[in-house]
Amino acid sequence: MPITLVRLDPVEDDQDALVDFMTRNEFPFHANPHPARKAVEAAIAKGAYRDEDNDSFWIHHTEHGRIGFLRFEDFRDPTPMFDLRLDGRFRGRGLGVEVLQAATHHLFTARPDIHRFEGQTREDNIAMRKTFMRCGWLKEAHYREGWPVHGGEPVASVAYAILRRDWETGQTTTFVWEDLTA
Ligand SMILES: CC(C)(COP(=O)(O)OP(=O)(O)OC[C@H]1O[C@@H](n2cnc3c(N)ncnc32)[C@H](O)[C@@H]1OP(=O)(O)O)[C@@H](O)C(=O)NCCC(=O)NCCS
Repeated sequence: MPITLVRLDPVEDDQDALVDFMTRNEFPFHANPHPARKAVEAAIAKGAYRDEDNDSFWIHHTEHGRIGFLRFEDFRDPTPMFDLRLDGRFRGRGLGVEVLQAATHHLFTARPDIHRFEGQTREDNIAMRKTFMRCGWLKEAHYREGWPVHGGEPVASVAYAILRRDWETGQTTTFVWEDLTA
């Protein structure tokens, strides 16, 4: 696999690079598409990048070098989540698939107690949704009007997840969506 996750130190060694990454790139499908330096610094100070619930990594690609940022979130919850952000230069090349596979491998290998890994995105983040599907993640929820949009109409929030057993077998199991009749 060409992807390595390199744990970063948000408070000391990597603070400048982290602030640079977050303020230099645009994140059109995040709640805050243009994080300001002060906001990133405040989040770092609050422990949002590394504390009991969060841990952050640079995404390193054997050919391209550093291509983005990944944070595991909700570590104390039975179902951790993540925040994945490729550097603008490396989007649109299909690299997200190998990154999500590497993140899943990392979590399930490092944390034998975890059996679910979940992610949510806006319904119009097609690139992320295709990435989920290509990695064998299953759509489990579609929260209509669940994602507020600043200055616009809310969009749906869509949730995908992968089970440890599906990751182990490489087979995505599913369920009957409408399992009751009214
Ligand atoms: C989301 C992200 C990880 C996806 O990874 P990526 O490798 O850049 O994904 P791509 O842009 O190559 O898109 C994957 C597929 O979706 C397709 N796609 C993307 N946007 C599309 C659109 N609006 N309509 C139709 N198809 C679209 C691409 O064409 C591609 O399919 P293809 O390989 O058949 O051409 C990456 O773009 C990123 O970091 N974006 C910014 C941060 C973000 O939104 N993170 C998600 C938060 S959970």
